[in-house]
Amino acid sequence: MNINTPRKKIVVLGGTGFVGQHLCAALVQAGHRVRVLSRNPDKAKELTVLPTLTLKYADIYQQDLLNKACEGADVLINLVGILNEDGHRGSGFRKAHVTLAQKVVATCLYNRIPRLLHMSALNADASKGRSYYLRTKGEAESYVHAHHVGQIHVTSFRPSVIFGPNDSFLNRFADLLAYAPGIFPLPLPNSLFAPIYVGDVVNAMIRSLDLSATYGQRYELCGPKVYTLKELVTYIAKLKHMHRLVIGLPLWLSSWQANMMEYLPGKPFSRDNYLSALTPSVCQQPMPKLLGLNLTPLESIAPLYLLPDEQQHLYDQYRAQVTVKGS
Ligand SMILES: NC(=O)c1ccc[n+]([C@@H]2O[C@H](COP(=O)([O-])OP(=O)(O)OC[C@H]3O[C@@H](n4cnc5c(N)ncnc54)[C@H](OP(=O)(O)O)[C@@H]3O)[C@@H](O)[C@H]2O)c1
Repeated sequence: MNINTPRKKIVVLGGTGFVGQHLCAALVQAGHRVRVLSRNPDKAKELTVLPTLTLKYADIYQQDLLNKACEGADVLINLVGILNEDGHRGSGFRKAHVTLAQKVVATCLYNRIPRLLHMSALNADASKGRSYYLRTKGEAESYVHAHHVGQIHVTSFRPSVIFGPNDSFLNRFADLLAYAPGIFPLPLPNSLFAPIYVGDVVNAMIRSLDLSATYGQRYELCGPKVYTLKELVTYIAKLKHMHRLVIGLPLWLSSWQANMMEYLPGKPFSRDNYLSALTPSVCQQPMPKLLGLNLTPLESIAPLYLLPDEQQHLYDQYRAQVTVKGS
């Protein structure tokens, strides 16, 4: 860390997840002190090897507990987001996205926390979003920016799908392909995505911390190339050495499949996911130059963690080495 950059006390919500684990490691490496609040800290014990990180249980929906857990923070980062809900008709999405954003703003005001980084999503839009996910993400984003006045400096990030080790997009399709018996029926094969590397998302967030020009801004984040879903799934099958014929389903059959898969354990695909994917996940704005991102191509990272099963031990060895070095 630059010696002129003050070390900060940063509270992260959602820090145990895919993006969170990468972000927390980078924040610690940059010299900051990080407090991760989790509903289930036991599931992310690997975070505790990071020297300046504490992982704590907290019911973050309880305003008084959230206030207490955020005492003394300089920055609050909210990464909480869900793709599928436990509740019905959007109530689960609303709680995780909108209600929590309201509580986050309240705790920033209560604790006089001057800086808030908010993770939103590309196409999030309170009124035009096609899915509960996109509408509630949009509502949460509008809410936090409505409070970007005086005391709180807010920056939001609106990424397309994010890839990297332990992601839930490329890995999810790799798992689904493994179960397919030779033919893989793919819903919405022509949906567009601009996958961005998790390291680039993390860099954008860390660079924005002290950059006053980013205050009040909402940044769309996309990778360097746009793919159809079918191109991505075919590429994953190739990396995994799986011989699968990927057959794109028409719209009506995609919709039917989403309705059916919603009832499978773990909801691999849901009605809400289907509705979200109808809007191209492609940036409308150029990548912000001031974040200084040098975008990482998917093809330079995905082969490192989507290894064919017979080579998976190489990735496990690599991860073990990284963990030992970090401890
Ligand atoms: N991954 C992507 O491709 C992508 C793309 C665009 C936007 N985003 C956004 O980026 C953020 C991080 O994504 P991610 O992939 O890292 O997600 P993730 O792996 O699912 O992690 C999200 C974290 O949020 C917490 N969480 C989950 N459900 C919650 C709930 N109902 N109430 C409170 N906390 C809850 C969990 O922490 P605990 O269990 O420890 O409490 C979890 O570790 C999300 O806001 C997501 O919408 C992600």
